[in-house]
Amino acid sequence: MGISKEFQFIIILLMLPTTFFVTSFPADFPLAKPNCIAQSQCGNISIPYPFGTTQDCNYQHPNFWVTCNQTFNPPKLFMQDTTIEITNISPDGQLKLLQYIAHDCYNQDGTRNTSNGPFIRLPLYMTVNNTANKFTIVGCDTYGFINGRRQNGNYATGCITTCDGVGDLKQGSCTGVGCCQTSIPEDVWEVDVTMGSYNNNSYVWAFNKCNYAFLVEESAFTFSPENFTNLRNGKELPMVVDWAVGNKTCEEARAINSTYACKGPNSTCYEPTNGYSYRCRCKDGYQGNPYLYEGCKDIDECKDSKLNNCTENEYCTNTVAGFYCTCHKGYKKEGQGGCVRGESLAYGSLAAGLALGVIVILLVICLIYLELKRRSSNKEKKKNFLQNGGTILQEKLKQIERNTSRLIYSLTELQKATNNFHVNMIIGQGGFGTVYKGFIENKIVAIKQSKEVSSNQVDQFVNEIVVLSQINHKNVVKLLGCCLEGQVPLLVYEFISNGTLYEHLHCKQPKTTNDDFLNWDRRLNIALETAGVLSYLHTDAFTTIIHRDVKSSNILLDNNFTAKVSDFGASKLVPLDQPHLTITVQGTFGYLDPEYMETSQLTEKSDVYSFGAVLVELLTGMRVVSRNRPEEEKNFVMFFVSKLRGKRLFDVLDDGIVCEENKEQLIQVANLAQVCLNRKGKDRPTMKQVAMELGGLKRDRKHPANEHNYKSQEMDLYCLDDGSNSNDGYGNSTSTGYDTSRGHIILPMNDAR
Ligand SMILES: *[C@@H]1O[C@H](CO)[C@@H](O)[C@H](O)[C@H]1NC(C)=O
Ligand SMILES: *[C@@H]1O[C@H](CO)[C@@H](O)[C@H](O)[C@H]1NC(C)=O
Ligand SMILES: *[C@@H]1O[C@H](CO)[C@@H](O)[C@H](O)[C@H]1NC(C)=O
Ligand SMILES: *[C@@H]1O[C@H](CO)[C@@H](O)[C@H](O)[C@H]1NC(C)=O
Ligand SMILES: *[C@@H]1O[C@H](CO)[C@@H](O)[C@H](O)[C@H]1NC(C)=O
Ligand SMILES: *[C@@H]1O[C@H](CO)[C@@H](O)[C@H](O)[C@H]1NC(C)=O
Ligand SMILES: *[C@@H]1O[C@H](CO)[C@@H](O)[C@H](O)[C@H]1NC(C)=O
Ligand SMILES: *[C@@H]1O[C@H](CO)[C@@H](O)[C@H](O)[C@H]1NC(C)=O
Ligand SMILES: *[C@@H]1O[C@H](CO)[C@@H](O)[C@H](O)[C@H]1NC(C)=O
Ligand SMILES: *[C@@H]1O[C@H](CO)[C@@H](O)[C@H](O)[C@H]1NC(C)=O
Repeated sequence: MGISKEFQFIIILLMLPTTFFVTSFPADFPLAKPNCIAQSQCGNISIPYPFGTTQDCNYQHPNFWVTCNQTFNPPKLFMQDTTIEITNISPDGQLKLLQYIAHDCYNQDGTRNTSNGPFIRLPLYMTVNNTANKFTIVGCDTYGFINGRRQNGNYATGCITTCDGVGDLKQGSCTGVGCCQTSIPEDVWEVDVTMGSYNNNSYVWAFNKCNYAFLVEESAFTFSPENFTNLRNGKELPMVVDWAVGNKTCEEARAINSTYACKGPNSTCYEPTNGYSYRCRCKDGYQGNPYLYEGCKDIDECKDSKLNNCTENEYCTNTVAGFYCTCHKGYKKEGQGGCVRGESLAYGSLAAGLALGVIVILLVICLIYLELKRRSSNKEKKKNFLQNGGTILQEKLKQIERNTSRLIYSLTELQKATNNFHVNMIIGQGGFGTVYKGFIENKIVAIKQSKEVSSNQVDQFVNEIVVLSQINHKNVVKLLGCCLEGQVPLLVYEFISNGTLYEHLHCKQPKTTNDDFLNWDRRLNIALETAGVLSYLHTDAFTTIIHRDVKSSNILLDNNFTAKVSDFGASKLVPLDQPHLTITVQGTFGYLDPEYMETSQLTEKSDVYSFGAVLVELLTGMRVVSRNRPEEEKNFVMFFVSKLRGKRLFDVLDDGIVCEENKEQLIQVANLAQVCLNRKGKDRPTMKQVAMELGGLKRDRKHPANEHNYKSQEMDLYCLDDGSNSNDGYGNSTSTGYDTSRGHIILPMNDAR
């Protein structure tokens, strides 16, 4: 201290505390363009359009460019790329800046240390608010000027303050003793501050070493003697700046739609000063950002008692851009002064009104309850639909370009069709679920209610529906659609009228009427059709499909005894690159391939085995498994094979089908069943081969002349391995079997015909 220095000038700056701003911008009103919400905040400072940090979604004009410096904590907002800090932007047309205080300090020897006070130049259409801000100087031996540019000219003004001692200073008084303030002109956009001392502060140096000057929001600064020492370098004070848009009057601006800043029907234009610019504001009763198309929102005056003048006896009703007050029940409007209790309302009618009110309330509660119930049931349905894979299904079905609406039934539709799943409508019950009969659009359908499908099976389930919906084979029960809204999936099939093969074989009185009886022709036909379906599934469908549950109760018959294979619930799709699937063993005991049971390796040959069992059933009319039989016959398939080997086939054949003409055929089919029932899958024929063979037999039935010829070729085929050419039908081919690995087997159809 105490060294003399030169005097110089100082400049000043700006300011501001956020707390002083009126919160004119509730958070639930739009601030920025819809896609720019993320950039409309800098720390907790809102950046309403037209201000913005990026050009594309924000600033409407470079004037409104602001930068947010995230290296500060909290982040700070700056005007353009300057160091002028912004602490608040209001869409009402004001913003607050912070600027440094200029200082001019002296040492005891009169030498000077001064700061280079900032020089402020505001962007176009921004001006220092001349009523809210004051140019202020603090010191006891000092003077200061503020000068710069306003509109198209220059301006300058200033004040002087001196005092003799600390005692002269008065708290809160800034009137020329230790502190002076002066107003500035309107429309100032450039500010430069100059300071000086008359006596190098030498007479007051003891208590006043530094003088200060600043342009400050008047309400943000109250003079105190302590400010001689506590207004330090680096301190910043707030300043209010007005902003406007464009350099036009409202009228001129409105004429050019494309640049007119007041967007939307609820925004309007006004001219804030005499200057050449305009601003937008929301129309009365609206609030928000008038610079955005849907920025102005209706104010709910009723939410805030300060916004409406309804009295305590009145209801407030919000309206577009306004509100109105109505008297409470029992009160009457009286002149200007609100509502007073009205005598006109008689006691009786009050009671009646009360009663009516109670009824109305009960009614409303009732309706609400019903509605909630309806919704929750819809929700439940939707949830089930999703859980049952409805979405995946719809997607898949879209892929295969199906009309999804036809394939997917609603639960309500099926409930209606089955009389709400009435027991009387049950036509079958099995391992995979319950089957109901139903009527949809005057057509009879079969509706299968699946057993619970666990969520990890959903995909598989859906796949199966999709597969079935693509299979178009006359001997496969047609899947008409499904319903996934119930707790378990429901499948809708065409209705097959004549029951299952199982019923016909085992549940009917044998040899009833001829019409109803499964004679050999019918059985052969059923065998052939079933083999055809399996062959199609294995080789001709878009991917290999293994049925996995071939049995007589899954073969339905129509009135012409045409076979319809059903129940694809357990079916598996075999990916092309994966001919052997290792999966949980599933199927029906008695029909289940023993090799598959042992190894869990699923191949098409498992279906061949099951089909063999069905052939045995067709030939013998016996159930494949029955507890009511002697021990050795329990597994009837094994029993059948042993009989065949023991050349005792005719002991076990169904009496009703044996006659002289078809003996040969029965033997051939029995042999075919036997190879199908080979223990090793690779020793069994493919379904295609089986189907061809049965096809040949059927043709022979029609042309008995060919029978002998065909038979001997056939026998050759099955006796390849041991060379035995026996034609008695009891060939011992099973010991070595039918080995497809040996190469092509030539079937009669392939070459001879
Ligand atoms: C103030 O100080 C300057 C140099 O530091 C000197 O030239 C000037 O005479 C001084 N003025 C007074 C009134 O002391
Ligand atoms: C702004 O953020 C800072 C720090 O995150 C916090 O202290 C201050 O209270 C916030 N101001 C407002 C107005 O929310
Ligand atoms: C942010 O502020 C820091 C410190 O003042 C400065 O170094 C940096 O360059 C600024 N960043 C930007 C992007 O302006
Ligand atoms: C002026 O003041 C600053 C900080 O108050 C100080 O760093 C600087 O050394 C001073 N300069 C002179 C010439 O006293
Ligand atoms: C200056 O600020 C006051 C108070 O906020 C406001 O009423 C006035 O309209 C402003 N002046 C201009 C020119 O915007
Ligand atoms: C002025 O001094 C008073 C009293 O110490 C203080 O509260 C106030 O913040 C000071 N003003 C400024 C702008 O620092
Ligand atoms: C308004 O500003 C534009 C460009 O900023 C300028 O070309 C035009 O002359 C100005 N008009 C008036 C009336 O100041
Ligand atoms: C501006 O828009 C209004 C309505 O949107 C239209 O009636 C008027 O013709 C437009 N004026 C110009 C100059 O495009
Ligand atoms: C303007 O206000 C009306 C009435 O409240 C409202 O229906 C309309 O959507 C508002 N228009 C826009 C663009 O916000
Ligand atoms: C309430 O304000 C409306 C205008 O907003 C005025 O017309 C009405 O007379 C006022 N009512 C009372 C009771 O002050």
